[in-house]
Amino acid sequence: MILTPQHSLLRWYEKNGRHDLPWRTTNNPYHIYLSEIMLQQTQVKTVLERFYFPFLERFPTLNDLAKAEVDDVLKMWEGLGYYTRARNLHAAARLCNRELPTTAHELIALPGIGRSTAHAIASFAYKEPLPILDANVKRILHRYFVLKERDEKRLWEYAYTLFDFDHPFEFNQAMMDVGASVCLSKKPLCAFCPFETTCQGKSTPLLYPTPKNKTTKPIRHRNIIVYQRENRYALIQRQTRFLSGLWGFYECEELRNSHIKSLGHITQTYSHFTLEADVYLSLNDMHEEGFEWFSKEEIAQLSLSRADHKVVSLL
Ligand code: ADE
Repeated sequence: MILTPQHSLLRWYEKNGRHDLPWRTTNNPYHIYLSEIMLQQTQVKTVLERFYFPFLERFPTLNDLAKAEVDDVLKMWEGLGYYTRARNLHAAARLCNRELPTTAHELIALPGIGRSTAHAIASFAYKEPLPILDANVKRILHRYFVLKERDEKRLWEYAYTLFDFDHPFEFNQAMMDVGASVCLSKKPLCAFCPFETTCQGKSTPLLYPTPKNKTTKPIRHRNIIVYQRENRYALIQRQTRFLSGLWGFYECEELRNSHIKSLGHITQTYSHFTLEADVYLSLNDMHEEGFEWFSKEEIAQLSLSRADHKVVSLL
């Protein structure tokens, strides 16, 4: 019997899908929304093992999240990275009146929810028949339709071409699973793929899309100075887009102060650069704008970036 690609995918999903993921066994739109935001730039394993359940325990409903202080939300996000996600989640909760909107069209209007995320939430929570287009699905479509060029608009058209309008939940979850376990970027396992007979790129999957030119990550060299006053240390709450809202120690490119003691060196890799920083302790009084002084115990209550946590461990 010849199966349509949609039917073949559905069968594959029944047998091989990750059916017990907690955001797949719930109808709660808030839980589904939270999972999709956490999963935007983070692996399933990390979200599952360290972040999803504690967050829901702390903020059980959308309304609890709306009533919370943003600093408390950031604290629960600490270690997940891409903190704008947490700020947007909180802002979105405040824009909603206890309930998430029930259509993708309205979801897209909320901060932090792009088209693919809106389609994911709407298809999972409300079974709205809309395809998703995350990085994994893009890769599948590039190969399936032998598309070399990265063209988002065309990919959306292909996403609709392959979509199963009768089974939006299963189709989208299955595509995520095929992307995560079969249509792998470096070593696609075509022999195990539900699209094995219909995929046009199966003999040369690595040609689609055309590989990006590898650019090496820039290294950002910085000095971090920990100002100390008795048993308190100076921190600043960052206002820049990057790491916005997190507390951190003073950073500078050039050292002007020679009365400082070296504490060591830290390295932190981010998505778009690597930070290499020499860390110093200064006992000089310094009144930089935005400095606030905290004891070690108080610092433990703040949200810090991973780099700043490394600095704390040098103190
Ligand atoms: N990544 C993003 N959304 C996901 C989901 N619902 N299941 C597994 N991985 C995902």
